[in-house]
Amino acid sequence: MSTAVKLPASANGAISQEFSGTWDVQKVRSDFPILQERARGHQLVYLDNAATSQKPKAVIDEIVRYYQHDNANIHRGVHYLSEKATEDFEAARRAVKRFVNAKQANEIIFVRSATEAINLVAQTYGRVHVGPGDEVLITAMEHHSNIVPWQLLCEEKQAKLRVAPINQEGELILDEFEPLLGPRTKIVALGHVSNALGTINPVSEIVAMAHAKNIPVLVDGAQAAPHLVIDVQALDCDFYALSGHKMYGPTGIGVLYGKMALLEAMPPYQGGGDMISSVSFEKTVYNKVPYKFEAGTPDMSGAVGLHAAIDYLSQLGMNKVAAHEHELLAYATQRLSGIKDLRLIGTAKQKAGVLSFVMQGIHAHDVGTILDQEGIAVRTGHHCAQPVMEIFGVDATARASFGLYNTKEEIDALVRGIQRVKEVFA
Ligand SMILES: Cc1ncc(COP(=O)(O)O)c(C=O)c1O
Repeated sequence: MSTAVKLPASANGAISQEFSGTWDVQKVRSDFPILQERARGHQLVYLDNAATSQKPKAVIDEIVRYYQHDNANIHRGVHYLSEKATEDFEAARRAVKRFVNAKQANEIIFVRSATEAINLVAQTYGRVHVGPGDEVLITAMEHHSNIVPWQLLCEEKQAKLRVAPINQEGELILDEFEPLLGPRTKIVALGHVSNALGTINPVSEIVAMAHAKNIPVLVDGAQAAPHLVIDVQALDCDFYALSGHKMYGPTGIGVLYGKMALLEAMPPYQGGGDMISSVSFEKTVYNKVPYKFEAGTPDMSGAVGLHAAIDYLSQLGMNKVAAHEHELLAYATQRLSGIKDLRLIGTAKQKAGVLSFVMQGIHAHDVGTILDQEGIAVRTGHHCAQPVMEIFGVDATARASFGLYNTKEEIDALVRGIQRVKEVFA
C-alpha cells in the first residue's frame, strides 16, 4: 500500500498539513520478523501496539551485536570493552536527545519504563515540593501509572489529588482545566496521548497555562513517542516520560527527560553505585545529572536496542509514521462506525492510533476471545485506566491499536472478525 502522507504541524504532534510522499507498508512489514507468524491457523493480525509494539530486525540484531562484541559494565572500567559499552550507552542517550529534541543529552535519564520515570519525579521533585494541603493536578484520562504514583505522594504528604474532567468525546475540558490551576498546585501531570481513548492532548497549551502560574508540567509520553513527532522544547514541558518497548525498542528501558535546572535541584531517586562521586560513612556526594538518577548497573542492552529503534523510526520519518497511522485510524473509524450495535469509546477530534469499542450485549473479553480465534490480537479490559471506563459507563472495552506496520487489509480483517463475533452471539 502506497499512500499520500501528511506532515504534523503543531507542537502537540497532531496532523494538519498535507504534502506528497509515499509509505511502502509491505517493505516496512518485512522489517518485522514476527509479523510472518501465524496465530490459531491464521495470518497474525497484530493490533495490540498500545500494550507493546513488535521489534524490527534492526533492533533485534543490534542487541545481539552488543552482547557478541561490546558487552561489559559501563562507566567504571578502563578496559577496551568497558569503553565500548560506555560509548554505546552514551550514544543511546544522544539518540534519545535528538529524538525528543532536548537541549542537551544530560537531560536524558535512563530508567526502566515510563512507569519508573513518573515514580522518579513523584518521589524526588514531588517529595520536596508537595506538602500538606498542596495539590497535584492530573486528568481523568490518565493511565494508572500516572495516577497511583501521585496518589502515593499525596497520601504521604497529606496533599490533594485534583482531577481535570473530560467530555463525552474523551477530550479535556480546557475551560474547566484552567481554574484547577490554583495557588496550591505544585505540579501538573498529564498524558500526551491517552492509551484508552487515543486522545491527543493539547499539551503545549496546557504547559503555557500552567507556566503562567509557575507550575511545572510532567507529560506521560508513553503512547505519543511511537506515533508523533516529539519536541520537548516546543512543548516546553518540564518532564517527559517514555517507554522503549512501545516505540519498537526492547522491554526494560524507558526514559525520563527533565529540564536541567529542575534535575540539578532534585534529590536522587535510588541509592547505589554510579550515582555517587564519593562515599564515606559520614557523607556521600552525589554524581552529576544524569548519573545521579541512574543507580546501579543500567539496562545497557536495552539502551542499545532503544537507540536502534530510534534510528529505525528516524530513517522512516516520524512525520510519515504519523501520517500513515492517521490514515489507518480514519479508515478504521469509518469502517467500525458502520457496524450496528458497536459503540466507539473516545471520539476526540485529535486522536492517535487507538480505537476502543464496546458491543451491545457482548462482553469485551468475549469479543477479544473470538477475534483471537481469527488470529487477530486486540486488548480487552480496562487498559489500566479504570476511571476512564467509569466515565463512559463500561467496565471494559476491546481496543485495537495501530502501529506503523498495520494495513487497511488488517482493518478489513478486524471488521470481518467483529461480524463473526456478532454471528456467534446472535
Ligand atoms: C499512557 C500510558 N502511560 C504509561 C504507561 C506505562 O508504561 P510502562 O508499563 O511501559 O511503564 C502506559 C502503558 O500502557 C500507557 O499507556
